Amino acid sequence: MADLRNNFVGIKSPNPFWLASAPPTDKAYNVERAFKAGWGGVVWKTLGEAGPPVVNVNGPRYGAIWGADRRLLGLNNIELITDRDLQTNLREIKQVKMNWPDRAVVVSIMVPCDEESWKAILPLVEETEADGIELNFGCPHGMSERGMGAAVGQVPEYVEMVVRWCKQYSRMPVITKLTPNVTDVRRPARAAKAGGTDAVSLINTINSITGVDLDSFSPTPSIDGKGTHGGYCGPAVKPIAMHMVADIARDAETRGLPISGIGGITTWRDAAEFMALGAGNVQVCTAAMTYGFKIVEEMISGLNNWMDEKGHRTLEDFVGRATPNVTDWQYLNLNYITKARIDQELCIKCGRCHIACEDTSHQAITKELNGKRHFEVLEDECVGCNLCVNVCPVDNCIDMVALEPGMLDQRTKKVVAPEYANWTSHPNNPMPTHKKLEPAE
Ligand SMILES: Cc1cc2nc3c(=O)[nH]c(=O)nc-3n(C[C@H](O)[C@H](O)[C@H](O)COP(=O)(O)O)c2cc1C
Ligand code: SF4
Ligand code: SF4
Repeated sequence: MADLRNNFVGIKSPNPFWLASAPPTDKAYNVERAFKAGWGGVVWKTLGEAGPPVVNVNGPRYGAIWGADRRLLGLNNIELITDRDLQTNLREIKQVKMNWPDRAVVVSIMVPCDEESWKAILPLVEETEADGIELNFGCPHGMSERGMGAAVGQVPEYVEMVVRWCKQYSRMPVITKLTPNVTDVRRPARAAKAGGTDAVSLINTINSITGVDLDSFSPTPSIDGKGTHGGYCGPAVKPIAMHMVADIARDAETRGLPISGIGGITTWRDAAEFMALGAGNVQVCTAAMTYGFKIVEEMISGLNNWMDEKGHRTLEDFVGRATPNVTDWQYLNLNYITKARIDQELCIKCGRCHIACEDTSHQAITKELNGKRHFEVLEDECVGCNLCVNVCPVDNCIDMVALEPGMLDQRTKKVVAPEYANWTSHPNNPMPTHKKLEPAE
């Protein structure tokens, strides 16, 4: 049995699955049941400053995108930070941490961007004996217009300044939660590191409008005929989040900075992918909101089985293993040549591959043989782009086969060279000063 125990910046939890700061973690009632279900930790729903709690809309606060089977792919929300009283939250956090000493309880905070506000809230949170704090620099709506959340996270200088205050006025580990609503996530990550953060977590939600009602012409979710941008999350954002995690993991300035991966994680496999790219643990929101707390059981058993199968004894055995394989386009091996191959036994003759390749790729798939529907790849036209694989409705019906060195590429009529060669050394590269060859791993 693999060892799933997680130690993230000194915060210990029995497994790497934490619930992200959001409705699943906004009260003791939820968090206690989440812990009973098996979650390793939680980041409590973001606390604001003392005083009258924030006010949420009283109508729909979610929008969504679904797949053809009505499976939820993307969720959009216009909810704000906790609308519960600060003292109630603090009291519950303290109680929960006392009841569940082996689980991680991290408190998310968002207060105005001035030193006094942060100085005031930090001791109150520390008093709960929570394991750490997460700085919510990501909320893209409502709070950002008030100079908080993403409004701070989008300005690296503010990020650095606030992180510095938190390190100065508290002993708790600081996790800086980053917004994806920036052009280059490495800049706020570097700033957080410069401010002394113990870790970053990402992503928070992405600015989005999920739909427009074509009768009322209101964006959805509609509040009395008007809508506003919300924060997008769920399976649809996973690729964006993973790219950002990898960017930070491999950046020379932030390499080694612990990362808590968030964004669309629904299964153990999603979690393992984030961790392979460099996340030390993961956080989950939409999947728990869609399927309930018990999904963690599948995450734990699935990760366990996979680790056993692969011989990974601890999480450290595979965290970051994919990071060195993320590279820039110019270093990809141009001598790696593949061709699509259709399994005629599995093919249901729907013709989607033919249409895709014919209309938008390289006219490399037949549609007929002897007057009958027949779909076959023409190797002398196929550029190996993989589009047909992605549009085919049958699993594993088309696969990409790599040509061995020494074989003839029927399209270019060239023999496949054995050595790795990339764009930096390619004769067509017009920028000879950039010519350098990175050794293949
Ligand atoms: C309804 C809702 C409320 C959220 N509230 C917060 C919040 O208060 N603080 C915060 O840091 N993130 C908040 N988030 C963002 C999540 O913590 C998480 O970063 C995001 O949903 C991406 O993860 P997911 O794809 O697993 O949902 C919220 C998300 C949702 C859906
Ligand atoms: S890999 Fe691309 S070029 Fe080759 S058959 Fe498929 S779609 Fe056509
Ligand atoms: S898309 Fe797949 S199933 Fe459909 S014709 Fe092509 S190979 Fe066959």
